[in-house]
Amino acid sequence: MSSNTSTLTVDNKSVELPVKEGTIGPSVIDISKLYAQTGMFTYDPGFTSTAATESKITYIDGDKGILLYRGYPIDQLAEHGDFLETCYLLLYGELPTAAQKADFDYRVTRHTMVHDQMNRFFTGFRRDAHPMAIMVASVGALSAFYHDSTDISDPHQRMIASMRMIAKMPTLAAMAYKYSIGQPFVYPQNELDYTSNFLRMCFAVPAEEYKVNPVLSRALDRIFILHADHEQNASTSTVRLAGSSGANPFACIAAGIACLWGPAHGGANEAALKMLEEIGTPDRIPEYIAKAKDKNDPFRLMGFGHRVYKNYDPRARIMQKTTHEVLNELGIKDDPLLDVAVELEQIALKDEYFIEKKLYPNIDFYSGITLKAMGFPTSMFTVLFALARTVGWIAQWSEMIEDPSQRIGRPRQLYTGERERDYVTVAQRG
Ligand code: SDX
Repeated sequence: MSSNTSTLTVDNKSVELPVKEGTIGPSVIDISKLYAQTGMFTYDPGFTSTAATESKITYIDGDKGILLYRGYPIDQLAEHGDFLETCYLLLYGELPTAAQKADFDYRVTRHTMVHDQMNRFFTGFRRDAHPMAIMVASVGALSAFYHDSTDISDPHQRMIASMRMIAKMPTLAAMAYKYSIGQPFVYPQNELDYTSNFLRMCFAVPAEEYKVNPVLSRALDRIFILHADHEQNASTSTVRLAGSSGANPFACIAAGIACLWGPAHGGANEAALKMLEEIGTPDRIPEYIAKAKDKNDPFRLMGFGHRVYKNYDPRARIMQKTTHEVLNELGIKDDPLLDVAVELEQIALKDEYFIEKKLYPNIDFYSGITLKAMGFPTSMFTVLFALARTVGWIAQWSEMIEDPSQRIGRPRQLYTGERERDYVTVAQRG
Protein backbone atom coordinates (compact mmCIF):
# COMPACT_ATOMS: atom_id res chain seq x y z
CA MET A 1 0.00 0.00 0.00
CA SER A 2 1.74 3.25 -1.14
CA SER A 3 1.38 6.35 1.03
CA ASN A 4 2.08 10.09 0.74
CA THR A 5 1.13 12.95 3.06
CA SER A 6 -1.35 15.84 3.26
CA THR A 7 -0.75 19.14 5.04
CA LEU A 8 -3.29 20.64 7.42
CA THR A 9 -2.78 24.24 8.49
CA VAL A 10 -4.62 25.53 11.57
CA ASP A 11 -3.88 28.90 13.30
CA ASN A 12 -0.79 29.30 11.08
CA LYS A 13 0.51 25.95 12.29
CA SER A 14 0.91 23.14 9.74
CA VAL A 15 0.92 19.40 10.42
CA GLU A 16 1.79 16.63 7.96
CA LEU A 17 -0.79 13.83 7.97
CA PRO A 18 -0.09 10.51 6.23
CA VAL A 19 -2.35 9.52 3.30
CA LYS A 20 -3.03 5.79 2.90
CA GLU A 21 -4.31 4.21 -0.30
CA GLY A 22 -6.47 1.09 -0.51
CA THR A 23 -6.50 -1.45 -3.34
CA ILE A 24 -9.59 0.32 -4.77
CA GLY A 25 -11.79 3.19 -3.57
CA PRO A 26 -11.06 6.46 -1.74
CA SER A 27 -7.71 7.00 -0.03
CA VAL A 28 -7.72 8.06 3.64
CA ILE A 29 -5.97 10.78 5.61
CA ASP A 30 -4.65 9.20 8.80
CA ILE A 31 -5.62 11.64 11.57
CA SER A 32 -4.81 9.33 14.49
CA LYS A 33 -2.04 11.74 15.63
CA LEU A 34 -4.04 14.93 14.93
CA TYR A 35 -5.12 15.57 18.53
CA ALA A 36 -1.59 15.02 19.84
CA GLN A 37 -0.17 17.41 17.22
CA THR A 38 -2.88 20.12 17.24
CA GLY A 39 -5.03 19.66 20.35
CA MET A 40 -8.03 19.49 17.99
CA PHE A 41 -10.49 16.75 16.99
CA THR A 42 -12.12 16.24 13.61
CA TYR A 43 -15.91 16.56 13.54
CA ASP A 44 -18.05 14.19 11.46
CA PRO A 45 -21.40 13.25 13.10
CA GLY A 46 -22.96 10.39 11.09
CA PHE A 47 -19.46 9.50 9.82
CA THR A 48 -20.20 10.77 6.30
CA SER A 49 -16.45 11.24 5.60
CA THR A 50 -14.89 8.91 8.14
CA ALA A 51 -13.24 5.53 7.60
CA ALA A 52 -13.43 3.87 11.02
CA THR A 53 -11.30 0.88 10.08
CA GLU A 54 -9.31 -0.89 7.37
CA SER A 55 -11.05 -3.96 5.96
CA LYS A 56 -10.60 -6.62 3.26
CA ILE A 57 -14.13 -8.03 3.35
CA THR A 58 -16.64 -5.94 1.36
CA TYR A 59 -16.26 -3.07 -1.10
CA ILE A 60 -19.01 -0.68 -2.20
CA ASP A 61 -18.80 1.96 -4.91
CA GLY A 62 -21.89 4.11 -4.27
CA ASP A 63 -21.60 6.13 -7.48
CA LYS A 64 -21.22 3.12 -9.76
CA GLY A 65 -23.58 0.86 -7.77
CA ILE A 66 -20.89 -1.78 -7.19
CA LEU A 67 -20.89 -4.32 -4.32
CA LEU A 68 -18.08 -6.87 -3.97
CA TYR A 69 -17.73 -9.60 -1.31
CA ARG A 70 -14.00 -10.40 -1.10
CA GLY A 71 -13.72 -9.04 -4.67
CA TYR A 72 -16.58 -11.07 -6.18
CA PRO A 73 -19.52 -9.02 -7.63
CA ILE A 74 -22.78 -9.57 -5.74
CA ASP A 75 -24.74 -10.44 -8.90
CA GLN A 76 -22.34 -13.30 -9.76
CA LEU A 77 -22.46 -14.71 -6.24
CA ALA A 78 -26.27 -14.45 -6.17
CA GLU A 79 -26.52 -16.09 -9.61
CA HIS A 80 -24.08 -18.98 -9.20
CA GLY A 81 -23.54 -19.64 -5.50
CA ASP A 82 -25.54 -20.39 -2.38
CA PHE A 83 -25.69 -18.64 0.99
CA LEU A 84 -23.36 -20.99 2.86
CA GLU A 85 -20.78 -20.59 0.08
CA THR A 86 -21.06 -16.81 0.60
CA CYS A 87 -20.66 -17.37 4.37
CA TYR A 88 -17.44 -19.32 3.76
CA LEU A 89 -16.17 -16.61 1.38
CA LEU A 90 -16.89 -13.76 3.82
CA LEU A 91 -15.35 -15.63 6.77
CA TYR A 92 -12.23 -17.07 5.11
CA GLY A 93 -11.64 -14.77 2.10
CA GLU A 94 -11.78 -17.39 -0.68
CA LEU A 95 -14.49 -19.43 -2.41
CA PRO A 96 -14.44 -22.97 -0.97
CA THR A 97 -13.37 -26.06 -2.90
CA ALA A 98 -16.00 -28.80 -3.13
CA ALA A 99 -14.45 -30.57 -0.14
CA GLN A 100 -14.24 -27.36 1.91
CA LYS A 101 -17.86 -26.53 1.07
CA ALA A 102 -19.06 -30.02 2.06
CA ASP A 103 -17.19 -29.80 5.36
CA PHE A 104 -18.51 -26.28 6.09
CA ASP A 105 -22.11 -27.28 5.28
CA TYR A 106 -21.71 -30.36 7.53
CA ARG A 107 -20.38 -28.30 10.44
CA VAL A 108 -23.05 -25.61 10.16
CA THR A 109 -25.82 -28.20 9.84
CA ARG A 110 -24.73 -29.89 13.05
CA HIS A 111 -24.95 -26.70 15.06
CA THR A 112 -28.54 -25.85 14.06
CA MET A 113 -30.22 -27.15 17.22
CA VAL A 114 -30.40 -24.82 20.22
CA HIS A 115 -30.12 -25.81 23.89
CA ASP A 116 -33.56 -27.20 24.70
CA GLN A 117 -33.95 -24.88 27.67
CA MET A 118 -34.15 -22.03 25.13
CA ASN A 119 -37.74 -23.25 24.60
CA ARG A 120 -38.51 -22.20 28.20
CA PHE A 121 -36.71 -18.89 27.57
CA PHE A 122 -39.17 -18.10 24.77
CA THR A 123 -42.27 -18.80 26.88
CA GLY A 124 -41.31 -15.79 29.02
CA PHE A 125 -42.32 -13.47 26.18
CA ARG A 126 -45.84 -12.23 25.43
CA ARG A 127 -47.17 -13.90 22.25
CA ASP A 128 -47.42 -10.47 20.60
CA ALA A 129 -43.80 -9.55 21.36
CA HIS A 130 -42.07 -8.20 18.24
CA PRO A 131 -39.84 -11.02 16.89
CA MET A 132 -36.89 -8.59 16.76
CA ALA A 133 -37.23 -8.05 20.53
CA ILE A 134 -37.09 -11.83 20.94
CA MET A 135 -34.05 -12.09 18.66
CA VAL A 136 -32.08 -9.40 20.53
CA ALA A 137 -32.82 -11.21 23.80
CA SER A 138 -32.31 -14.79 22.64
CA VAL A 139 -29.06 -14.16 20.78
CA GLY A 140 -27.70 -12.27 23.77
CA ALA A 141 -28.84 -15.17 25.96
CA LEU A 142 -26.78 -17.64 23.90
CA SER A 143 -23.75 -16.49 25.90
CA ALA A 144 -25.44 -17.96 28.95
CA PHE A 145 -26.06 -21.29 27.23
CA TYR A 146 -22.75 -21.56 25.38
CA HIS A 147 -20.31 -20.19 27.89
CA ASP A 148 -17.66 -22.55 26.47
CA SER A 149 -17.31 -20.34 23.35
CA THR A 150 -17.08 -16.87 24.84
CA ASP A 151 -13.31 -16.56 25.32
CA ILE A 152 -12.46 -14.25 22.44
CA SER A 153 -8.71 -14.74 22.92
CA ASP A 154 -9.10 -18.40 21.87
CA PRO A 155 -9.33 -18.78 18.05
CA HIS A 156 -11.01 -22.18 18.45
CA GLN A 157 -13.71 -20.73 20.71
CA ARG A 158 -14.17 -17.83 18.28
CA MET A 159 -14.70 -20.31 15.43
CA ILE A 160 -17.20 -22.39 17.44
CA ALA A 161 -19.15 -19.28 18.49
CA SER A 162 -19.22 -18.14 14.84
CA MET A 163 -20.50 -21.49 13.57
CA ARG A 164 -23.07 -21.63 16.37
CA MET A 165 -24.51 -18.22 15.50
CA ILE A 166 -24.62 -18.79 11.74
CA ALA A 167 -26.28 -22.15 12.35
CA LYS A 168 -28.68 -21.18 15.11
CA MET A 169 -30.02 -17.88 13.77
CA PRO A 170 -32.52 -19.68 11.44
CA THR A 171 -33.63 -21.91 14.33
CA LEU A 172 -34.14 -18.95 16.69
CA ALA A 173 -35.83 -16.90 13.95
CA ALA A 174 -38.22 -19.76 13.18
CA MET A 175 -38.90 -20.22 16.92
CA ALA A 176 -39.71 -16.50 17.23
CA TYR A 177 -42.17 -16.81 14.35
CA LYS A 178 -43.78 -20.04 15.62
CA TYR A 179 -44.12 -18.57 19.11
CA SER A 180 -45.85 -15.47 17.73
CA ILE A 181 -48.51 -17.58 15.96
CA GLY A 182 -48.98 -20.10 18.78
CA GLN A 183 -47.65 -23.08 16.85
CA PRO A 184 -45.17 -25.64 18.23
CA PHE A 185 -41.47 -25.23 17.49
CA VAL A 186 -40.18 -27.38 14.62
CA TYR A 187 -36.74 -28.93 15.04
CA PRO A 188 -34.14 -28.64 12.26
CA GLN A 189 -33.63 -31.62 9.92
CA ASN A 190 -30.06 -32.37 8.96
CA GLU A 191 -30.82 -33.74 5.53
CA LEU A 192 -32.17 -30.36 4.39
CA ASP A 193 -30.01 -27.50 3.10
CA TYR A 194 -29.70 -24.35 5.19
CA THR A 195 -32.54 -22.33 3.69
CA SER A 196 -34.91 -25.27 3.08
CA ASN A 197 -34.40 -26.19 6.75
CA PHE A 198 -35.37 -22.65 7.73
CA LEU A 199 -38.51 -22.65 5.58
CA ARG A 200 -39.55 -25.99 7.06
CA MET A 201 -38.95 -24.79 10.65
CA CYS A 202 -41.15 -21.77 9.88
CA PHE A 203 -44.01 -23.32 7.93
CA ALA A 204 -44.21 -27.05 8.81
CA VAL A 205 -46.92 -28.16 11.26
CA PRO A 206 -47.10 -31.52 13.10
CA ALA A 207 -50.43 -32.25 11.46
CA GLU A 208 -49.02 -32.86 7.97
CA GLU A 209 -45.87 -33.42 5.90
CA TYR A 210 -44.19 -30.20 4.71
CA LYS A 211 -42.72 -30.11 1.22
CA VAL A 212 -40.13 -27.41 0.55
CA ASN A 213 -40.76 -25.48 -2.69
CA PRO A 214 -37.29 -25.45 -4.33
CA VAL A 215 -38.00 -22.22 -6.24
CA LEU A 216 -38.91 -20.39 -3.03
CA SER A 217 -35.97 -21.91 -1.17
CA ARG A 218 -33.57 -20.83 -3.92
CA ALA A 219 -35.10 -17.34 -3.96
CA LEU A 220 -34.80 -16.93 -0.19
CA ASP A 221 -31.25 -18.29 -0.26
CA ARG A 222 -30.42 -15.60 -2.83
CA ILE A 223 -32.06 -12.96 -0.63
CA PHE A 224 -29.80 -14.09 2.22
CA ILE A 225 -26.75 -13.68 -0.07
CA LEU A 226 -27.82 -10.09 -0.90
CA HIS A 227 -28.12 -9.21 2.79
CA ALA A 228 -24.96 -10.99 4.04
CA ASP A 229 -22.59 -8.04 4.44
CA HIS A 230 -22.35 -4.38 3.54
CA GLU A 231 -19.09 -2.74 4.64
CA GLN A 232 -19.24 -0.51 7.76
CA ASN A 233 -23.03 0.10 7.96
CA ALA A 234 -24.62 1.14 11.26
CA SER A 235 -25.19 -2.35 12.69
CA THR A 236 -21.76 -3.62 11.60
CA SER A 237 -20.13 -0.58 13.18
CA THR A 238 -22.14 -1.35 16.33
CA VAL A 239 -20.81 -4.91 16.38
CA ARG A 240 -17.25 -3.69 15.88
CA LEU A 241 -17.55 -1.09 18.64
CA ALA A 242 -19.10 -3.60 21.07
CA GLY A 243 -16.40 -6.12 20.16
CA SER A 244 -13.62 -3.58 20.70
CA SER A 245 -14.35 -3.67 24.44
CA GLY A 246 -13.80 -7.46 24.51
CA ALA A 247 -17.50 -8.28 24.90
CA ASN A 248 -18.38 -11.90 24.04
CA PRO A 249 -19.44 -12.60 20.41
CA PHE A 250 -23.07 -13.36 21.27
CA ALA A 251 -23.44 -10.00 23.04
CA CYS A 252 -21.85 -8.20 20.08
CA ILE A 253 -24.20 -9.80 17.56
CA ALA A 254 -27.18 -9.02 19.84
CA ALA A 255 -26.05 -5.36 19.75
CA GLY A 256 -25.96 -5.53 15.96
CA ILE A 257 -29.50 -6.95 15.86
CA ALA A 258 -30.70 -4.11 18.10
CA CYS A 259 -29.19 -1.49 15.78
CA LEU A 260 -30.48 -3.17 12.61
CA TRP A 261 -34.03 -2.95 14.00
CA GLY A 262 -34.21 0.80 13.36
CA PRO A 263 -36.48 1.90 10.44
CA ALA A 264 -33.62 3.93 8.91
CA HIS A 265 -31.61 0.71 8.64
CA GLY A 266 -32.78 -2.91 8.54
CA GLY A 267 -36.24 -2.01 9.82
CA ALA A 268 -36.85 -0.26 6.47
CA ASN A 269 -38.10 -3.47 4.80
CA GLU A 270 -40.95 -3.69 7.32
CA ALA A 271 -41.54 0.08 7.08
CA ALA A 272 -41.45 -0.01 3.25
CA LEU A 273 -44.16 -2.66 3.06
CA LYS A 274 -46.32 -0.78 5.57
CA MET A 275 -45.82 2.34 3.44
CA LEU A 276 -46.92 0.52 0.25
CA GLU A 277 -49.98 -0.81 2.12
CA GLU A 278 -50.77 2.71 3.36
CA ILE A 279 -50.50 4.15 -0.16
CA GLY A 280 -52.75 1.29 -1.28
CA THR A 281 -53.34 2.27 -4.91
CA PRO A 282 -51.18 3.94 -7.61
CA ASP A 283 -53.48 6.98 -7.77
CA ARG A 284 -52.42 7.95 -4.21
CA ILE A 285 -48.68 7.95 -5.06
CA PRO A 286 -48.44 11.70 -5.90
CA GLU A 287 -49.79 12.55 -2.41
CA TYR A 288 -46.97 10.50 -0.80
CA ILE A 289 -44.29 11.81 -3.15
CA ALA A 290 -45.35 15.32 -2.06
CA LYS A 291 -45.12 14.30 1.62
CA ALA A 292 -41.63 12.85 1.05
CA LYS A 293 -40.51 16.14 -0.51
CA ASP A 294 -42.13 18.33 2.16
CA LYS A 295 -39.39 19.57 4.50
CA ASN A 296 -41.94 20.00 7.29
CA ASP A 297 -43.19 16.44 6.94
CA PRO A 298 -41.03 13.74 8.60
CA PHE A 299 -42.38 11.17 6.12
CA ARG A 300 -39.73 9.50 3.95
CA LEU A 301 -40.15 7.03 1.12
CA MET A 302 -39.05 3.88 2.95
CA GLY A 303 -36.84 1.66 0.82
CA PHE A 304 -35.48 4.72 -1.00
CA GLY A 305 -32.14 6.44 -0.55
CA HIS A 306 -28.85 5.27 0.88
CA ARG A 307 -25.86 6.80 2.60
CA VAL A 308 -23.47 5.22 0.14
CA TYR A 309 -25.42 4.30 -3.02
CA LYS A 310 -26.01 7.46 -5.04
CA ASN A 311 -26.98 5.16 -7.89
CA TYR A 312 -29.26 2.13 -8.03
CA ASP A 313 -28.49 -0.32 -5.16
CA PRO A 314 -27.19 -3.37 -7.10
CA ARG A 315 -29.00 -5.61 -4.61
CA ALA A 316 -32.33 -3.89 -5.37
CA ARG A 317 -32.10 -4.93 -9.02
CA ILE A 318 -31.56 -8.58 -8.08
CA MET A 319 -34.27 -8.26 -5.43
CA GLN A 320 -36.73 -6.95 -8.02
CA LYS A 321 -36.01 -9.91 -10.33
CA THR A 322 -36.45 -12.32 -7.41
CA THR A 323 -39.78 -10.70 -6.53
CA HIS A 324 -41.16 -11.45 -10.00
CA GLU A 325 -39.79 -15.02 -9.83
CA VAL A 326 -41.49 -15.69 -6.49
CA LEU A 327 -44.81 -14.10 -7.49
CA ASN A 328 -44.83 -16.14 -10.72
CA GLU A 329 -44.04 -19.37 -8.84
CA LEU A 330 -46.88 -18.64 -6.42
CA GLY A 331 -49.24 -17.79 -9.26
CA ILE A 332 -49.75 -14.27 -7.94
CA LYS A 333 -50.60 -12.48 -11.18
CA ASP A 334 -51.29 -8.96 -10.04
CA ASP A 335 -50.09 -8.07 -6.57
CA PRO A 336 -51.51 -4.58 -5.76
CA LEU A 337 -48.46 -3.85 -3.59
CA LEU A 338 -46.14 -4.65 -6.50
CA ASP A 339 -48.21 -2.41 -8.78
CA VAL A 340 -47.81 0.45 -6.30
CA ALA A 341 -44.07 -0.28 -5.87
CA VAL A 342 -43.33 -0.37 -9.62
CA GLU A 343 -45.39 2.78 -10.27
CA LEU A 344 -43.84 4.57 -7.26
CA GLU A 345 -40.34 3.72 -8.45
CA GLN A 346 -41.05 4.98 -11.97
CA ILE A 347 -42.55 8.26 -10.73
CA ALA A 348 -39.84 8.86 -8.11
CA LEU A 349 -36.96 8.18 -10.50
CA LYS A 350 -38.27 10.88 -12.85
CA ASP A 351 -38.93 13.38 -10.08
CA GLU A 352 -36.61 16.42 -9.71
CA TYR A 353 -36.25 16.01 -5.96
CA PHE A 354 -35.18 12.36 -6.09
CA ILE A 355 -32.87 12.93 -9.04
CA GLU A 356 -31.17 15.90 -7.40
CA LYS A 357 -30.76 14.05 -4.05
CA LYS A 358 -29.75 10.84 -5.86
CA LEU A 359 -32.41 8.77 -4.14
CA TYR A 360 -32.85 5.31 -5.66
CA PRO A 361 -34.60 2.16 -4.43
CA ASN A 362 -32.44 0.24 -1.97
CA ILE A 363 -32.49 -3.41 -1.00
CA ASP A 364 -35.46 -2.87 1.31
CA PHE A 365 -37.81 -1.55 -1.36
CA TYR A 366 -38.75 -4.88 -2.96
CA SER A 367 -37.78 -7.38 -0.27
CA GLY A 368 -40.98 -6.90 1.72
CA ILE A 369 -43.25 -7.77 -1.22
CA THR A 370 -41.30 -11.00 -1.78
CA LEU A 371 -41.23 -12.06 1.86
CA LYS A 372 -44.95 -11.29 2.31
CA ALA A 373 -45.74 -13.42 -0.76
CA MET A 374 -43.70 -16.25 0.79
CA GLY A 375 -45.94 -16.13 3.87
CA PHE A 376 -43.83 -14.15 6.33
CA PRO A 377 -45.59 -11.44 8.39
CA THR A 378 -44.05 -7.94 8.15
CA SER A 379 -42.78 -8.30 11.72
CA MET A 380 -40.44 -11.07 10.50
CA PHE A 381 -38.84 -9.08 7.66
CA THR A 382 -36.04 -7.52 9.71
CA VAL A 383 -35.49 -10.85 11.49
CA LEU A 384 -34.66 -12.36 8.09
CA PHE A 385 -32.32 -9.45 7.41
CA ALA A 386 -30.59 -10.13 10.76
CA LEU A 387 -30.42 -13.86 9.99
CA ALA A 388 -28.52 -13.15 6.77
CA ARG A 389 -26.35 -10.32 8.13
CA THR A 390 -25.10 -12.42 11.05
CA VAL A 391 -22.29 -13.84 8.90
CA GLY A 392 -21.23 -10.33 7.85
CA TRP A 393 -21.23 -9.11 11.43
CA ILE A 394 -19.16 -12.15 12.46
CA ALA A 395 -16.67 -11.75 9.60
CA GLN A 396 -16.18 -8.05 10.45
CA TRP A 397 -15.97 -8.80 14.19
CA SER A 398 -13.36 -11.52 13.56
CA GLU A 399 -11.33 -9.16 11.34
CA MET A 400 -11.34 -6.59 14.14
CA ILE A 401 -10.41 -9.11 16.86
CA GLU A 402 -7.56 -10.53 14.75
CA ASP A 403 -6.17 -7.04 13.97
CA PRO A 404 -3.05 -6.68 16.18
CA SER A 405 -3.46 -2.89 16.21
CA GLN A 406 -7.06 -3.14 17.46
CA ARG A 407 -7.92 -0.93 20.48
CA ILE A 408 -11.18 -0.07 22.23
CA GLY A 409 -13.23 2.36 20.11
CA ARG A 410 -13.73 5.62 22.01
CA PRO A 411 -14.77 8.68 19.90
CA ARG A 412 -14.50 12.21 21.36
CA GLN A 413 -16.89 15.21 21.00
CA LEU A 414 -17.37 18.92 20.44
CA TYR A 415 -18.60 20.14 23.84
CA THR A 416 -21.10 23.02 23.71
CA GLY A 417 -22.54 22.67 27.20
CA GLU A 418 -22.17 24.84 30.31
CA ARG A 419 -18.79 26.07 31.56
CA GLU A 420 -17.84 24.97 35.09
CA ARG A 421 -20.21 26.43 37.71
CA ASP A 422 -20.76 25.94 41.48
CA TYR A 423 -23.50 23.84 43.04
CA VAL A 424 -26.64 25.80 44.09
CA THR A 425 -28.65 24.41 47.04
CA VAL A 426 -32.35 23.83 46.50
CA ALA A 427 -33.14 26.67 48.92
CA GLN A 428 -31.19 29.09 46.69
CA ARG A 429 -32.86 27.94 43.46
CA GLY A 430 -35.89 30.12 43.85
C1 SDX B 1 -30.11 -0.17 4.82
O1 SDX B 1 -25.56 1.65 5.41
C2 SDX B 1 -25.92 0.52 4.80
O2 SDX B 1 -25.17 -0.09 4.07
C3 SDX B 1 -27.32 0.06 5.15
C4 SDX B 1 -27.85 -1.13 4.35
C5 SDX B 1 -27.08 -2.40 4.67
O3 SDX B 1 -27.11 -3.32 3.84
O4 SDX B 1 -26.57 -2.49 5.84
O5 SDX B 1 -27.75 -0.87 2.95
C6 SDX B 1 -29.31 -1.41 4.70
O6 SDX B 1 -30.21 0.36 5.89
C7 SDX B 1 -30.70 0.45 3.57
C8 SDX B 1 -31.40 1.84 3.85
C9 SDX B 1 -32.79 1.54 4.40
N1 SDX B 1 -33.44 2.76 4.90
C10 SDX B 1 -34.48 3.32 4.26
O7 SDX B 1 -34.92 2.93 3.19
C11 SDX B 1 -35.12 4.47 5.02
C12 SDX B 1 -35.39 5.65 4.07
N2 SDX B 1 -34.10 6.18 3.66
C13 SDX B 1 -33.58 7.29 4.44
O8 SDX B 1 -33.95 7.38 5.77
C14 SDX B 1 -32.14 7.64 4.10
O9 SDX B 1 -32.04 7.64 2.73
C15 SDX B 1 -31.02 6.81 4.69
C16 SDX B 1 -31.13 6.68 6.17
C17 SDX B 1 -31.01 5.45 4.09
C18 SDX B 1 -29.70 7.51 4.34
O10 SDX B 1 -29.67 8.69 5.05
P1 SDX B 1 -28.47 9.75 4.86
O11 SDX B 1 -27.38 9.23 4.03
O12 SDX B 1 -28.12 10.27 6.22
O13 SDX B 1 -29.16 10.84 3.99
P2 SDX B 1 -29.96 12.03 4.59
O14 SDX B 1 -30.93 11.51 5.61
O15 SDX B 1 -28.98 13.07 4.99
O16 SDX B 1 -30.79 12.49 3.33
C19 SDX B 1 -30.17 13.32 2.35
C20 SDX B 1 -31.33 14.12 1.80
C21 SDX B 1 -32.16 14.78 2.90
O17 SDX B 1 -32.73 15.96 2.35
P3 SDX B 1 -32.04 17.38 2.79
O18 SDX B 1 -32.05 17.43 4.31
O19 SDX B 1 -30.65 17.34 2.20
O20 SDX B 1 -32.95 18.42 2.13
O21 SDX B 1 -32.23 13.25 1.09
C22 SDX B 1 -33.50 13.25 1.76
C23 SDX B 1 -33.30 13.81 3.15
O22 SDX B 1 -34.47 14.44 3.62
N3 SDX B 1 -33.92 11.85 1.81
C24 SDX B 1 -35.15 11.41 1.56
C25 SDX B 1 -35.07 10.02 1.70
N4 SDX B 1 -33.83 9.67 2.03
C26 SDX B 1 -33.12 10.78 2.11
N5 SDX B 1 -36.28 12.06 1.25
C27 SDX B 1 -37.38 11.28 1.06
N6 SDX B 1 -37.38 9.94 1.16
C28 SDX B 1 -36.25 9.27 1.47
N7 SDX B 1 -36.24 7.95 1.58
